[in-house]
Amino acid sequence: MAEGEQKKGLEGIVIADTRLSKVFGDVGKLIYSGYEIRDLANNASFEEVVFLLWYGALPTQTQLTRFRETLISEMTLPAPVLTAMKSYPSNAHPMAVLRTAVSGLGLYDAAAEDNSQDANFRKAMHLTAKIPTIIAAWARIRNGKEPVAPREDLGLAANFLYMLRGHDPEQVEVDAVNVYLVLLADHGMNASTFTSRVVTSTDGDMYSAVTAAIGSLKGPKHGGANEAAMRMFREVSKAGSVEEWFKREVKEHGRRIMGIGHRVYKAPDPRAEILKEHAHALCAQKEKCGLLDVADQLAELASQDAYFIERKLFPNVDYYSAIVLDAIGIETDMMTPLFAMSRIAGWTAHIIEQWADNRLIRPRGNYVGPTDVKWVPLEERVD
Ligand SMILES: CC(C)(COP(=O)(O)OP(=O)(O)OC[C@H]1O[C@@H](n2cnc3c(N)ncnc32)[C@H](O)[C@@H]1OP(=O)(O)O)[C@@H](O)C(=O)NCCC(=O)NCCS
Repeated sequence: MAEGEQKKGLEGIVIADTRLSKVFGDVGKLIYSGYEIRDLANNASFEEVVFLLWYGALPTQTQLTRFRETLISEMTLPAPVLTAMKSYPSNAHPMAVLRTAVSGLGLYDAAAEDNSQDANFRKAMHLTAKIPTIIAAWARIRNGKEPVAPREDLGLAANFLYMLRGHDPEQVEVDAVNVYLVLLADHGMNASTFTSRVVTSTDGDMYSAVTAAIGSLKGPKHGGANEAAMRMFREVSKAGSVEEWFKREVKEHGRRIMGIGHRVYKAPDPRAEILKEHAHALCAQKEKCGLLDVADQLAELASQDAYFIERKLFPNVDYYSAIVLDAIGIETDMMTPLFAMSRIAGWTAHIIEQWADNRLIRPRGNYVGPTDVKWVPLEERVD
């Protein structure tokens, strides 16, 4: 490229200082505010992680109790947002619904345009609390069921499953959703986080930034990969032999295995390893796990293949999260919304961080079109 020698896709470009999380791609390590992801996955509730990302330190018991109470009390949706959702087409993709409903939330927040730090923390709380309610409500509305209101006595993960089903979830399922939410809460300058920071950098409001981030997450090269991986596992399973499918679809037709590969990790993604362990533990207890074997076999074939070895391609977070979410009965097209339900913690933390030291993010393109072209009047142009 003429203007600088950057690689395509802003690879390797640092766009901001952040104290939120760091991906050590060469060694497969991830930290949030200094804490190793495995430590957090083993010990933290999602609410603690949200607090950590927003305030830079783990909460004390008193702080956590107050924080959780506020968060849960914010989960109810404004009535007009629910009414609007009931008018959406029932075949709309849940990520499109989430994007639209989150944008709609901004219409009913009197402080939507207030970009002060206090207002941004309040909006971060609204969004983190209301996204699970939107997702659960849509899962019911599209199936002709009434949404279920959140309960004050349940944490965020349990409340989500309760609102989804209308009855108390099993503890093992709550734990699985909690671990999933902890693992995906933040991840360096990923595409949707970058999107949220770009919108913020124009002095744009938090609802606009999060709506844009949801649009960015939806694509299958980013958050949409969990849904795509699940569909691929089903396809492989139907094909009969995993080995033959790999040989034909990947080696001969050059198809990508969804849920494998990463821009930053050139070593195993630690989140994938933790989720693989959870997938195996869950599947030992649940019956609905036929595709774990398929996922394991496919990953094994890739791990022994020279193409994948040379390019350092390993399962990423979306590979085994698809199996975990499927095992607890999350519908396949609801998987990426669950990613958003977690990543809202990181998006809002990054938006607040961007506001603290903001400058317009405005890169340049390398123009490769023609120059000095002479204007041709319409009547002189030939078909
Ligand atoms: C995540 C992803 C988009 C990263 O993209 P990237 O950093 O731009 O990497 P590239 O697309 O340039 O891929 C680098 C090489 O690995 C190959 N590759 C990357 N992911 C692959 C996959 N899942 N299956 C097969 N080959 C893959 C590419 O074909 C390319 O090969 P080449 O150098 O011979 O052209 C990419 O790995 C991918 O599409 N993975 C599947 C989707 C996915 O799981 N996304 C979720 C990410 S958390």
